[in-house]
Amino acid sequence: MPTILAIESSCDETSAAVCTDGKMLSNVIASQKIHEQYGGVVPELASRAHMQNIVPVVDVAIKNAGITTAAIDAIAFTQSPGLIGALLVGGQFAKSLALSLNKPLIAVHHMQAHVIANLIDERKPSFPFLCLTVSGGHTQIVLCESPLKMRVIGQTIDDAAGEAFDKTAKMLGLPYPGGPLVDKYAKEGNPNSFKFPEPQIAGLDFSFSGLKTSILYFLNNAGASNVYKEEFTATEEQKNNFIKNNLSDICASVQSRIISILLNKLTKASTQTGIKEICIAGGVSANSGLRNSILKMGEEKGWNVYIPIFEYCTDNAAMIAMTAYYKYLANDFVDISVSSTARAEW
Ligand code: KG4
Ligand code: ZN
Repeated sequence: MPTILAIESSCDETSAAVCTDGKMLSNVIASQKIHEQYGGVVPELASRAHMQNIVPVVDVAIKNAGITTAAIDAIAFTQSPGLIGALLVGGQFAKSLALSLNKPLIAVHHMQAHVIANLIDERKPSFPFLCLTVSGGHTQIVLCESPLKMRVIGQTIDDAAGEAFDKTAKMLGLPYPGGPLVDKYAKEGNPNSFKFPEPQIAGLDFSFSGLKTSILYFLNNAGASNVYKEEFTATEEQKNNFIKNNLSDICASVQSRIISILLNKLTKASTQTGIKEICIAGGVSANSGLRNSILKMGEEKGWNVYIPIFEYCTDNAAMIAMTAYYKYLANDFVDISVSSTARAEW
């Protein structure tokens, strides 16, 4: 019955969670609002905010779990990938705690943890399953054979799906992070209003940079064309009026294209592997259009679809705690001298 305290600090969320025997007792998330005014995450400010948040967040996670530090059997932390300064704050804190409590340390890969988020709820996929992991930094199709045995079978060759949402929002003059706002406006719009191209990428890989460019041209031409044509270039006023009058339809059309890019590759992966246990994970899995479409597709194709609850979709320590639980059972501990790394193979 191991009790694990887990810490997540890879980007702009400071989070701590406690689980006992794989059951989540608490999951506290402090989001950093400071980045909104800069239109993106500022690494130095993220590290500073983690420094401020880490003690109160861990403290509340322990209190909410109804335990004391004496009950903790292991300390887990996100080792990689992420912003190095941000990772170091959580990593160093976890190490200090492990040292002072004399408990073992578990290092967790953030992207594996996003996949494992699907194993927290009572309704879980059976193995093997496919997971579409879509976040601000990653877009991957992962084939998961057991909790600790998984491999990436498709991934983006340029931008991530979350970036496609956030960059679209930025071009539309919406604040960061724009993904949730595109989702909100898309609900009132017609997805067939405007056509954006589907990239022709071989295999199970993704690409979103062409879509980004076509949206840029489309807006610069005030909707007249989404390929570059000098004679169509609209004035700033025409462009802004076009966006104002068509915001919901533009959001719905772009969102619908991002979703079709994701689901076409997921369908291909399911056909190729014969796997019909299908999960999604990562911040973009909070998108209501993607959730509805994957559920509908599941019905059509006979998939069993699993979507983690909202707080386990975006960055959180519960997914780190759950991954650490499986690592604890496998005796997979790390030495206190371990380093955090911005990138890591898996
Ligand atoms: O997994 P996550 O919280 O952090 C990373 O590890 O990147 O994902 C954040 C990303 C951002 O790009 C954000 O805009 C996107 O997830 N996102 C959404 C929605 N909620 C969050 N994108 C579209 N629709 C949403 N509802
Ligand atoms: Zn993430």
